[in-house]
Amino acid sequence: MMTEFPMREAFRPSFHFTPQRNWMNDPNGLVWFAGEYHLFYQYNPDGDQWGHMSWGHAVSRDLVAWTELPLAIPEDERHWIFSGSIVVDWANTSGFGDGAAPPLVALYTGAERGDDAMQSQCIAYSHDRGRSWTKYGGNPVLDVGLGDFRDPKVFWHAASGRWIMVVAMSLASRIALYGSDNLRQWQHLSDIGPAGPTGSVWECPDLFELPVEGEGGTRWVLKFDVMRSDEPGIAVPVVLTGSFDGTAFAPDADAGGIPHWQRADHGHDFYAAISWSDIPASDGRRVWIGWMSNHHYAAAVPTSPWRGAMTIPRALSLRRIDDVYRLVQQPVAELQARRRTLHEPRAITLPATQTLRLVAPTDLPLACEFHVRVHERSVASFTIGLDNRHGHHLEIGWDCTNARLRIDRSAGLMAGNSVFAAPCSASLAAAGPLTLQIFVDRGSIEIFADDGATVITAQHLMPDDGWSATIARRENTQDFAELGVWLL
Ligand code: FRU
Repeated sequence: MMTEFPMREAFRPSFHFTPQRNWMNDPNGLVWFAGEYHLFYQYNPDGDQWGHMSWGHAVSRDLVAWTELPLAIPEDERHWIFSGSIVVDWANTSGFGDGAAPPLVALYTGAERGDDAMQSQCIAYSHDRGRSWTKYGGNPVLDVGLGDFRDPKVFWHAASGRWIMVVAMSLASRIALYGSDNLRQWQHLSDIGPAGPTGSVWECPDLFELPVEGEGGTRWVLKFDVMRSDEPGIAVPVVLTGSFDGTAFAPDADAGGIPHWQRADHGHDFYAAISWSDIPASDGRRVWIGWMSNHHYAAAVPTSPWRGAMTIPRALSLRRIDDVYRLVQQPVAELQARRRTLHEPRAITLPATQTLRLVAPTDLPLACEFHVRVHERSVASFTIGLDNRHGHHLEIGWDCTNARLRIDRSAGLMAGNSVFAAPCSASLAAAGPLTLQIFVDRGSIEIFADDGATVITAQHLMPDDGWSATIARRENTQDFAELGVWLL
């Protein structure tokens, strides 16, 4: 059974991946192979709540239009199939190849059920472009006797000629690095942590090298997700830049040795992101995607018959700002092929307290991209509101006094959930031009500020089409901004 997007159901996004039915969380096994981007994901084939974890599967040729394929890796008697990654084993180091083509090798966490359940790293491999998978008879391949040891992300490190695995020791607030020649035997190399956000659960690490914009050099990026124990519902994608010598990761730090902790996304709904493996060098991008939800309220989000969506895929780079390497995320360029102009990009002049109102044709789903360029961010606060016919309201606000960008979703469905209803915000530079690239789909909003240096991702629940957008500003300046709006 295959399903082509887009589908039209209440809340069904137009340009974000959702499974046709049932529960989905983390992206898993992201790999490019033979012309296809593969997206595997944590999936419950039996229902719309977390459980029976298995790997679902979808493929795309452009990262935008996805085709859902049959269940890839099902649970078994011993294990639920938790998060992990896939590599193309070009040189057949694992010996799982069939002699014809390089095998795809999946490394996933086998999670036992019940009391004293253990988590260990296991392998499955495929000879048919990820359509069918064989679990390795020698599983698990890495078992250290821990109950919270998960989410292996594996890559080939050419300089040291071996495979590297980053994997979380979740309750110890530690990311461990292992090395292997054959994907089956792993030696411990080094650890990161406990440090920084300790006392919370650490999950879903990734480690990769990125170019620095305009400088020609590269730095390494370590990302992991922290579920804060002190603030329930706050889940933070943490990023460190640094160097990696094939054995250990050394974070960039200030003069006092304190690492530059960054937050990859300031919303409540960007979690468990990992990057694609094996994107061809001729493309050269490092692209990641995240689960666009939050374990705190995901099970209560009233979508049906599915639950869970992915963010838009984002191409990554580093930008040196105030002598710190900042992670920069840009929506993948492939999305531009969907644009249909609603408001040609042009200057808008709004006297104070007046508003600009855009009304979409009523038969169009809420799926659009806004570009706002404010000439000088320090002189005007403004809001962009989205409204539907049911009185639901979603608001983006720029507060020029405090230099904060905010999303407020307290006037929609799910407002009864205190984490969902709390505004999320990010502080930006206080002066200079401000650019916002805003993607609104049924069910979500993603804001890329300052050309991707700050991102906020949030689900929202505005049922039905027939939407309008209103832009209002408070201070009176002649020349306000440029605005472009496209339907996607
Ligand atoms: C993160 C996570 C992972 C785990 C998976 C189980 O969302 O908790 O650590 O592997 O989900 O579904």
